[in-house]
Amino acid sequence: MLEKWLKESSYTIVFTGAGMSTESGLPDFRSAKSGLWRTKNPQQLASTYAMQHNRDEFIAFYQYRIRTLLKCKPHVGHMILADWQKRGLIHQIITQNVDGFHQQAGSTNVIELHGTLRTVHCSRCRRTYDAKRYVDEQFTCTCGGFLRPSVVLFGESLPYDAFEQAWTAAERADLWIVLGSSLQVSPANELPVIAKRSGGKLVIVNMEPTPLDDWADLLIHGRKIGEVLQEIDELL
Ligand code: APR
Repeated sequence: MLEKWLKESSYTIVFTGAGMSTESGLPDFRSAKSGLWRTKNPQQLASTYAMQHNRDEFIAFYQYRIRTLLKCKPHVGHMILADWQKRGLIHQIITQNVDGFHQQAGSTNVIELHGTLRTVHCSRCRRTYDAKRYVDEQFTCTCGGFLRPSVVLFGESLPYDAFEQAWTAAERADLWIVLGSSLQVSPANELPVIAKRSGGKLVIVNMEPTPLDDWADLLIHGRKIGEVLQEIDELL
């Protein structure tokens, strides 16, 4: 069914979450057994509060995430999405992920709602550096300011342009495909509802149930994204 909708759709959006990158070796946040937030407190580690008042743990957490990221790479699912974009089957990828794997796989004009872990920038002058600085234990800008990861922390708002573009895409989409998100974090989780309310079809591919399952025209639970995308790709 999904291969048919992909061929018929004139404006397809793929919306990805951390479940898109677990097959690359990156842990997600809320998977029942392995999610990062199962054993760690996001407010203590990934928030503006943590950056100010819990700096050593904040730095250690992002060093761990950047080190892990640098050891991983896009998997076949990312490659398939890049190929589908080249073939005009999908029009835009909007991601909550900060790993840059869609771009590395060849996808273009990816909207990164939660920023990127590929760079760090100065809290004072906003100069940007490669995130490898954190691995090299370099946390200070040439201006003396603190270098922080270029991700959206809990307590910060999403980059306005990115969210505005994503909102417009949701209003225009006639097919919105969610890949690997628990859909528990707003305002990103409002987008699939906007797409649905604007007359688009909603597809959710996620190992576990999500709060938006009742809105979906097609639900695929309990299956790995990589396998699902390969199967559909063979039918296109
Ligand atoms: N195939 C299919 N689904 C998968 C796979 C897989 N290989 N691996 C994990 N999943 C599913 C999990 O069942 C889970 O429901 O992906 C979902 C990932 O959900 P989260 O870990 O909550 O990730 P996400 O929805 O992207 O989180 C949103 O929360 O912590 C913040 O900023 C962070 O961007 C993140 C946001």
